[in-house]
Amino acid sequence: MMNTDQLMQLSLDMAGMTKIPADSAIYHPGENIKKAIMGIDMGAPELLLGRDLGYDAVIAHHPIGDTARLDFADVLWTHLDQMTAAGVPESVARPIVEEKVTNAQMGMHAANYDHTPSIAKLIDMPYLNIHLPLDEIGRQMMVESTNKLSPDQPVSALIDQFKADMKEFQIALTDFQVRVGSPDNPLGKVAISHAAGTNGGYPIAKAYFDHGVDTVLYIHCSPQDTQKIKEEYEGKGKNMVISGHISSDAVGINVYCDELKKQGLEITRISGILT
Ligand SMILES: [Fe+2]
Ligand SMILES: [Fe+2]
Repeated sequence: MMNTDQLMQLSLDMAGMTKIPADSAIYHPGENIKKAIMGIDMGAPELLLGRDLGYDAVIAHHPIGDTARLDFADVLWTHLDQMTAAGVPESVARPIVEEKVTNAQMGMHAANYDHTPSIAKLIDMPYLNIHLPLDEIGRQMMVESTNKLSPDQPVSALIDQFKADMKEFQIALTDFQVRVGSPDNPLGKVAISHAAGTNGGYPIAKAYFDHGVDTVLYIHCSPQDTQKIKEEYEGKGKNMVISGHISSDAVGINVYCDELKKQGLEITRISGILT
């Protein structure tokens, strides 16, 4: 049996984090949770489903409301840490990330942050979302797979390695996409740009490419940003690999669900948690 605090804390411990990140929150607390249902997107219909099927808690991955939505932009600063760790000068990275944060803040400010949490409260269904910690677990696994490879191996070797190490990439209906560059290009220096709120789009990929990174992995990227990156870097030995949104999210989430199961919880996985 666990309570909602313990459900959250376990994810922080597993990801090596000390505090709840801005994109994760307990919307309605609860105790004595024996049976939980978890999915990547869990909103109002899934709260009712959880109640109807007799679950004690509903756990979402993506942020839904309250501070997890309003303060979501704060976790985009994780891009700054990842970029500087990859060798992008802070003076270059900081203004790029700052602009992303400001834009996201303005977008989130308009959201009806209360909608779904208010329903959880009304029907008294314990409800939380865990975003960055579970993406961080997934990112660490992706980095571990990447570290098995050498820079002269082709992009296709990274894709094969990911599929060998993480079953989600074998069973997903989406496949990897090499949107810039080629599966035959050497990997060179790789940046796994994941677990930072959302993808960094054109400006963050550009910063990586301009400062020594040859292959950038995003789990998703808009068509518009993809096009801009392609126009600027196609044919220059740079590669942009898209691993797939749901498959990549499921990687870290499954590790967490497996641990819940080990600790005696009954956990049902839906909405993109590929098993
Ligand atoms: Fe995610
Ligand atoms: Fe996601």
